[in-house]
Amino acid sequence: MSRTKVIAIANQKGGVGKTTTTANLGYALSNMGRDVLLIDYDSQASLTNYLNIGLDDEETYYGIYDLMLCALRPVDPEFDESLAAIDYKNDNDFARLCEMCIHRPTYLARELQTVDGKRKVVDVEREFGFDLLPSHLYLSDYSLEVSQPKYANDSVGGLRLYNVIQRILKWHEYDYVLIDCNPSLEIMTMNAIIASTSGILIPTNLDLLSTRGVTNLVDRIGDVQELMNGINPPIVHMGVIGILLNLYSERRRVDTTIENNLNMFYPFKIFREKIPESVDAKRAVLGGLIYSQIHKKAKTQYEAVARELEETLGQMEKEGQKIQYLERKMNVVEQPEDTQDNE
Ligand SMILES: Nc1ncnc2c1ncn2[C@@H]1O[C@H](COP(=O)(O)OP(=O)(O)O)[C@@H](O)[C@H]1O
Ligand SMILES: [Mg+2]
Repeated sequence: MSRTKVIAIANQKGGVGKTTTTANLGYALSNMGRDVLLIDYDSQASLTNYLNIGLDDEETYYGIYDLMLCALRPVDPEFDESLAAIDYKNDNDFARLCEMCIHRPTYLARELQTVDGKRKVVDVEREFGFDLLPSHLYLSDYSLEVSQPKYANDSVGGLRLYNVIQRILKWHEYDYVLIDCNPSLEIMTMNAIIASTSGILIPTNLDLLSTRGVTNLVDRIGDVQELMNGINPPIVHMGVIGILLNLYSERRRVDTTIENNLNMFYPFKIFREKIPESVDAKRAVLGGLIYSQIHKKAKTQYEAVARELEETLGQMEKEGQKIQYLERKMNVVEQPEDTQDNE
């Protein structure tokens, strides 16, 4: 079995911090010396843009769409000559394809340097420290194509992203592959969930309705586990890793009340470490940076989440899937009595 942890960051709700979590958790893990690949599996390409790729409409680049397309069928030379020349099954061609599609995102750091004998602040291009398989708006064309009737009886349909990732891992054995999902439970997200055999990390805000919505996703993950178990030979899928509370404020009493409720009643692990809410999450983007690069507490917390993640994955490996289903009753996350804010 590969040592790589393949994890999806998923929640069918938008705006709960999936993209922010993927980038900042990836950054924390690579700062810990882990070899990380991020996959933007959302046709809105928010993660790609967040990491300064594809911001200019004219910019052309290869990414997950191209990889998936080459895996699906021969590419028409009129669409793209370079892709048409690739034989997906050939290892050398596949390596070339990975080099075309996998990027090393960068940002501009302001640094003090001596230029012509004078001390000046200059912009220097620096790597975030992880790889990115970017997305593009035309990833939605791919999902349309695979929904065509001719692929209806295709037994590897659901495993398509899984197979592509396994192939990438033969080319380069990353420590972590984090997949940023789109906000739905449609075919694309299901493919990402299937591919994420080390489990799913579910970021949510502290809105009670959002935390209730997680139930639906959790049910689908359970179905995927069963399905993978039934494959011959069975593929072990770890299911839910845990729920990550994002946009959290210790000063808002309702947040701590909801957290306590979740900890009492939710049958899944709620990460002890939480991500604070701050306008810096949005402000960072203005400078082409990510949240934890400009907000100290966010950096500390993402690093703490990364350590908690490693600890949890280690435990899950030891205990199988037991720890995911804690001895709690689902359903009864009641409206907290105390919804008064202190702010
Ligand atoms: N901890 C946070 N504090 C404040 N704003 C945040 C935080 N996390 C994310 N955001 C903002 O919320 C919006 C949605 O976040 P995003 O990561 O794109 O969510 P999703 O991928 O789930 O749609 C973005 O504008 C982002 O900057
Ligand atoms: Mg997103």
